Amino acid sequence: MHHFHYKGDELYCEEVPVNRVAEEVGTPFYLYSTATLERHYRAFEDALQNTDHLVCYSVKANSNLAVLALFARLGSGFDIVSGGELFRALQVKSDPGKMVFSGVGKTQDEIRSALDAGILMFNVESLQELREINRIAGEMGKTARISLRVNPDVDPRTHPYISTGLKESKFGIPIAEALNAYRLARTLSHLEPVGVDCHIGSQLTELSPFEDALHRLRELIDSLREDGFTIRYLDLGGGLGINYDEEEPPHPTEYGKMLIEKTRGLDCTLIFEPGRVITGNAGILVTRILYTKENLGKNFTIVDAGMNDMIRPSLYGAYHKILPVQRSISEKAASDVVGPICESGDFMARDRKIQPSGRGDLLAVMSAGAYGFVMSSNYNSRLRVPEILVSEDRFYVVRSRETLQDLVHGESVPDFLRGKAL
Ligand code: LLP
Repeated sequence: MHHFHYKGDELYCEEVPVNRVAEEVGTPFYLYSTATLERHYRAFEDALQNTDHLVCYSVKANSNLAVLALFARLGSGFDIVSGGELFRALQVKSDPGKMVFSGVGKTQDEIRSALDAGILMFNVESLQELREINRIAGEMGKTARISLRVNPDVDPRTHPYISTGLKESKFGIPIAEALNAYRLARTLSHLEPVGVDCHIGSQLTELSPFEDALHRLRELIDSLREDGFTIRYLDLGGGLGINYDEEEPPHPTEYGKMLIEKTRGLDCTLIFEPGRVITGNAGILVTRILYTKENLGKNFTIVDAGMNDMIRPSLYGAYHKILPVQRSISEKAASDVVGPICESGDFMARDRKIQPSGRGDLLAVMSAGAYGFVMSSNYNSRLRVPEILVSEDRFYVVRSRETLQDLVHGESVPDFLRGKAL
């Protein structure tokens, strides 16, 4: 359930007409709904209320400071994957004791800043990383709490680019080698192994891959405990899918019910790193039609948002619903909805039946709240678009549109290229 809805024929976000925002800030822009973000966060929390758990919202899905501030106020922890995400999470005064640091390639500086901040734990992905964290913690006179990210080799049955739990993926340590890796960790005096971690993929629409992974992780926890380890945390990552089109992913309540059942008697705090399920359907990308044309019988709707603003359709062939901001009863016609970038791969939708619209009309690319703005770039020297947060009948610009000066910020022309022609 989200709070983007028609009143009459006009699309609203909560109590704000989308058109009004477009008039004031120009297009394109991302638009997020506070009520939806909050509702999705609470739905996830509520699903787990009868079990000892910690929700660490996955910052990568949508890292706008206002969004993070909202989750911090709701009591969320954070799953971070870079020094930049740590910085953002600290900016909103969140509790570092509720942060987990994931990712295969943590740098020395990132490890140092996370130790400095006093995060809950590192999810470690290789033996070399274990040694590196131990060395840095030693230098700093600290002990680092760690979990090993194990790769349970289950097929999440999602897009290959967002599957992470198969044995051929770069992520984690193969489950068969995990016990030995924990034994190594035990010999490193500045590490304290406290948990087990896994994340098998994103946009999962079935529960069974989660169940399979959980089964394998329980076995691992049993053998670790037999070996004398104190395992207090089981981090199950993120990955619960959302409805973009016809998918029917399990509701967080079903996910929670299954987890509570399958972890009975485990005696661990469960950690979750949800991203998409919380922010995905809480945001849209609003774009204006620049031109329409027909090339040899094929219709093109050329909009002012490109693959640099929203890359999911181009990169994953992802489906996003496209709705008119002003609805009419005219019959839909098939069109490619394309951006202004000089690449054939620059499209929001292909052969999509949309309401016939003309120059100047607004379209909403739905389900754009996760992996939307965060994956945007300046390709073709386009300015990154603003992010707007709605709360009831008000809206706030929570990131302003970049300026031409922002575009060249940090660039310079060396002396030898200034002045006369070479
Ligand atoms: N934890 C870890 C360690 C992750 O790698 C991810 C996502 C998450 C949590 C959050 O997963 P979620 O609940 O959002 O599924 N750009 C892609 C998605 C990449 C996901 C990467 N990792 C997309 O646009 O679909």
